[in-house]
Amino acid sequence: MKAVVLNSVGEPSEVLSCEEVPMPEPGRGQVRVKMIASPINPSDLMLTRGRYMVQPSLGPTVGYEGVGIVDKAGPGLLGKYMAGKQVAVINPNGGNWAEYAIVPANRVVPIAKDLPTEQVASFFVNPATVLCMVREVLKVPRGAWLVNNAAGSALGRMIIKLGKADGFKTLNIVRREALAEELKALGGDAVVVEGREPLAEAFARITHDHEPKYAIDPVGGESGSALFEALATDGHMLVYGTLSGQPLVVAPRPLIAGKRLEGFYLGNYMQTRPLWKNLLLFKEIARLIRAGVLDTPPGERFGLEDIKAAVQAAERSGKPGKVLLTIGSE
Ligand SMILES: NC(=O)c1ccc[n+]([C@@H]2O[C@H](COP(=O)([O-])OP(=O)(O)OC[C@H]3O[C@@H](n4cnc5c(N)ncnc54)[C@H](OP(=O)(O)O)[C@@H]3O)[C@@H](O)[C@H]2O)c1
Repeated sequence: MKAVVLNSVGEPSEVLSCEEVPMPEPGRGQVRVKMIASPINPSDLMLTRGRYMVQPSLGPTVGYEGVGIVDKAGPGLLGKYMAGKQVAVINPNGGNWAEYAIVPANRVVPIAKDLPTEQVASFFVNPATVLCMVREVLKVPRGAWLVNNAAGSALGRMIIKLGKADGFKTLNIVRREALAEELKALGGDAVVVEGREPLAEAFARITHDHEPKYAIDPVGGESGSALFEALATDGHMLVYGTLSGQPLVVAPRPLIAGKRLEGFYLGNYMQTRPLWKNLLLFKEIARLIRAGVLDTPPGERFGLEDIKAAVQAAERSGKPGKVLLTIGSE
């Protein structure tokens, strides 16, 4: 079969190549999925660079999510139940950028065929992160302001639309002026272009001196540090990404006084939850994708053999949406 192979740790366009590799066989408790499509997420590229939560193994090991059809089950009841179903593939070991992927049977989620395959491809990572951060960890109440840094990302856009659906207001920070009108049209209550005015002044102007209490930050560095400083004294910020690659610098006194700075990583968070809660989460994600709240903006599509161009497109500033590897037919 064809698969994207990680040859060494480094720049994705240099170390990834499309190659012929042996067809994998599912073991006990595993299924083999004939892949249809898989998105290129920031986590895939961080892994390739050796800057993710785990260190990468070399080989056909990249690609954490996607959509496919279960084509073979190893020994075990759950796998047999999944056989032939269209599934969202949440692959904890990576390896979805291939014609066939081996996945634990409890990490594939059957999805009704009425959802478009490109939406099923991005069913889990961003939508689940959005719901867990906003509804479960921060518990943003109706009417409150939530500051959304790097708001033009696929995930940032979901936050804006969830604000409309759940009744909280979004104050969206972007680094490019061109995004301001687009994000307001999507439902953003306010958009601040970074570097135009001190954040505290922008917040006071927009929220009429009610400093926002809730924030989510995937950037870090100067941007995330300034955001944390401008939050209310009883503020709560979740850090969920490292887009700038730079550390956060925060004054200790506000932390001592009770302002909260916390990390969020979906991989760890999901392990703290019982199965029934995850099943309800999947149901809610499907409902909100259908409702146009947690849908992923579609971007350029590439075949596995064009992996070098695909990973470059995935990190291009101003890309129209999520870059998708289209692998096989339904
Ligand atoms: N912790 C978790 O469990 C978890 C789960 C899911 C996602 N995430 C994180 O969520 C973030 C967004 O993911 P996504 O899939 O939505 O990404 P995406 O659609 O690829 O968007 C990336 C966005 O980041 C912006 N960006 C890149 N570098 C930046 C910088 N240095 N400063 C400010 N903005 C920058 C880009 O802005 P331009 O448009 O201006 O280029 C673009 O809008 C990523 O950091 C990802 O790792 C974390």
